[in-house]
Amino acid sequence: MKNLLVTGGCGFIGTNFIRHLLHASDFSGRIVNADSLTYAGNPENLVDIETRFPGRYVYQKVDICDLPALRDLFHNFQIDAVCHFAAESHVDRSIVTPDAFIQTNIVGTFNLLELARTGANDLKLFHHVSTDEVFGSLGAQGFFTETSPHRPNSPYAASKAASDHLVRAYHKTYGLPVTISNCSNNYGPYQFPEKLIPLMILNALEGTPLPVYGDGKQVRDWLHVEDHCKAVWEVMTRGERGETYNIGGRNEMENIRVVALLCDILDEIGKAADGRSRRELITYVKDRPGHDRRYAIDCTKITQELGWVPEKTFESGIRETIDWYLKNTGWIERVKSGAYRSWVREHYGDGGAAAAE
Ligand code: NAD
Ligand code: TYD
Repeated sequence: MKNLLVTGGCGFIGTNFIRHLLHASDFSGRIVNADSLTYAGNPENLVDIETRFPGRYVYQKVDICDLPALRDLFHNFQIDAVCHFAAESHVDRSIVTPDAFIQTNIVGTFNLLELARTGANDLKLFHHVSTDEVFGSLGAQGFFTETSPHRPNSPYAASKAASDHLVRAYHKTYGLPVTISNCSNNYGPYQFPEKLIPLMILNALEGTPLPVYGDGKQVRDWLHVEDHCKAVWEVMTRGERGETYNIGGRNEMENIRVVALLCDILDEIGKAADGRSRRELITYVKDRPGHDRRYAIDCTKITQELGWVPEKTFESGIRETIDWYLKNTGWIERVKSGAYRSWVREHYGDGGAAAAE
């Protein structure tokens, strides 16, 4: 892998993945980060990488739905491997505006597969980053395995399931060297504050309500983003072509427990201005339509075949994450106010800024 195309590298997991590859892995090639900078993409995340690794990291503002632009990119940078993160990723948004999910997650993935098949320079690998949400919802017992049927319940999950199927089909039909990973919920630095954990941290710090959907007893299996990034690289380098790997934290928690824990850690670090427990901010709100009750991953395959296990415990990972949000108030302010758009304009011109609106 000499010229690795990473799509969606300015988002939460893509940013962490690029940082991991350049700082802490055995990858020795060049990364080309293609990201169209939706509201969730922030190139500021990687500005130190651009200066620290000149020649080994390139950012290109490209929309994966734009086939001609993608074709130029494959050609100009002699792309020989792809790690595909770019997606519309928030379930709540997919309920309100599903269109963008169909375009980016399905059509965008199709475009990338077509170019990997016809326009790549001796393609070594197409790795597709996916989610456990494609498997639907579990009852109180059981786990998702690699052979669990796809039973998506939200437009987000359905669009990711469609993309999984396309990747699989390109392997079976055209022999494209692919791998797929389906991961559970991630948390950690650089996560856009619309997802549960950063939203709750920031609201709790501001003293605004903590909106818990329904009865708060839905279960998610939380994994630190760095563990996810390490797993993806293991799959890319040592996974069998054509295979799917489940990645999970072995860390199931009810949402209400997660929110209460965040409140307690923040209270321990420093009392709220009014001296009250932050748990008092918890507010039960109307449930999400079609809300999946429980996700839990059986990651025996990646553990047995590739030796991967999550390294961070939730207790230590969540403290580090809170610490990151406490220390990066400038990042938070710019992301929340959209001020990073002027930074984008300065660095990438008006096209970049317009895309980030
Ligand atoms: P994110 O929303 O933080 O980032 C998505 C990135 O993709 C952004 O930088 C955005 O600008 C870019 N993007 C969106 N549409 C694009 C387009 N048309 N062309 C080019 N770039 C575009 O998402 P994330 O949480 O980092 O998730 C990354 C991937 O991991 C997704 O495929 C998601 O389905 C998957 N995943 C996420 C989680 C999780 O907990 N966040 C868990 C499992 C799998
Ligand atoms: P989220 O972070 O959106 O991830 P996903 O829906 O992909 O699992 O939500 C995690 C869980 O937290 C999910 O069960 C929905 C719930 N949730 C809330 O209760 N309140 C909120 O404000 C948000 C954003 C999520």
